[in-house]
Amino acid sequence: MSTTTKIFLTGATGYIGGSILTRLLAHPDRPSFELTALVRNPDAAKKLAALGVKTISGSYDDLALLTDAAAQADVVFTMVCVTVWDQLPPAQAILAGLKQRFEQTSKPPILIHTSGAGIVMDITAHGHSGAQDTYSDLDAETLASRPGKALPMAVESALVRADEEGYVRSYLITPGTIFGLAKGPLVDLGVQHKHSLQLPLFFRTFIKRGRAATIGPGLNVWPAVSYNDNADLYLRLFDAARSSSSSVGHGREGFYFAESCEYSALEIAQASGRVLHKLGVAEVREPDEFSEEQVQASFGAFWEILSSTSRARGERARAQLGWSPKEGKAELLASVEREIEELLKDSKL
Ligand SMILES: NC(=O)c1ccc[n+]([C@@H]2O[C@H](COP(=O)([O-])OP(=O)(O)OC[C@H]3O[C@@H](n4cnc5c(N)ncnc54)[C@H](OP(=O)(O)O)[C@@H]3O)[C@@H](O)[C@H]2O)c1
Repeated sequence: MSTTTKIFLTGATGYIGGSILTRLLAHPDRPSFELTALVRNPDAAKKLAALGVKTISGSYDDLALLTDAAAQADVVFTMVCVTVWDQLPPAQAILAGLKQRFEQTSKPPILIHTSGAGIVMDITAHGHSGAQDTYSDLDAETLASRPGKALPMAVESALVRADEEGYVRSYLITPGTIFGLAKGPLVDLGVQHKHSLQLPLFFRTFIKRGRAATIGPGLNVWPAVSYNDNADLYLRLFDAARSSSSSVGHGREGFYFAESCEYSALEIAQASGRVLHKLGVAEVREPDEFSEEQVQASFGAFWEILSSTSRARGERARAQLGWSPKEGKAELLASVEREIEELLKDSKL
């Protein structure tokens, strides 16, 4: 019997995906891993090949390719997209491949999918409120009947159904805002995205307008987790899922919120204002409110997500995986300065 674990990754050049691939490359079991990444950029593919990572050139548009790659895999990490409507076909293509794998091996493969805390957000907060029930990932029943104000969960629902059918074990990691600059060999090689998504979008806008700001009063609240703590959760889940399928929740019981603290948009804007003022980018330290035109021009269709409230407690990973995040609110606020300094070096912004 083969002792090789075949691992297929999507989004491996991303901020999250790069952190996971870096850790898999340094994993004590690395000699038994066959790592394959779906990659869009030929230069990144060449650099990954030099590190011993097989690459498949393609994207989420190549559904047959996704099915074939998943059909070869014991473990799939998907780190391309959170619950967005057009991601259902690629998710279904990957599930079709995993079903083939199960039919070949009689062993359900593992799927570790990246979702996001948007699944429990109140998209109608519009910066005016941080008040919302806090969702625990141990409460599968309440999670299944989330409020009608959150993003749809088409992909997550498909993964849970597939788990219930028994041909795959699905795990859904749902991070809050991930903070901190990515570091490591894949960043040094120019393969991995260095910045996270949510907060740097604000930082870039603040730099361009020369002052920090909020959408509405910025009272909306989100959970957050550091780059390292988030990667730690993925790896703990990967190790636990491989060694003991029964003690680790999957499917309907397989949501894992990654969070270590909460922040409001106003707190981030205030911290940014202090940094921008200190660095001579802003004359005024205190944030103001974006005008409606600025909100549309800067954030387009994403403005409602960026001004939403999401409150989530990651109790499952703490209870079942021994996950104990080390960085919290103080590190989140301290990361603002490093992020802004780094973005100021980038002429393209
Ligand atoms: N960062 C956060 O705070 C956070 C929190 C919760 C959830 N999430 C979710 O997690 C996912 C990954 O986040 P991230 O921060 O790692 O984003 P990212 O840095 O933008 O990485 C996205 C990855 O997906 C790849 N990709 C994008 N479109 C693709 C397509 N059509 N086909 C194949 N690959 C594609 C990118 O490849 P290229 O290198 O070729 O562009 C990259 O590897 C996102 O959907 C995000 O919503 C992120």
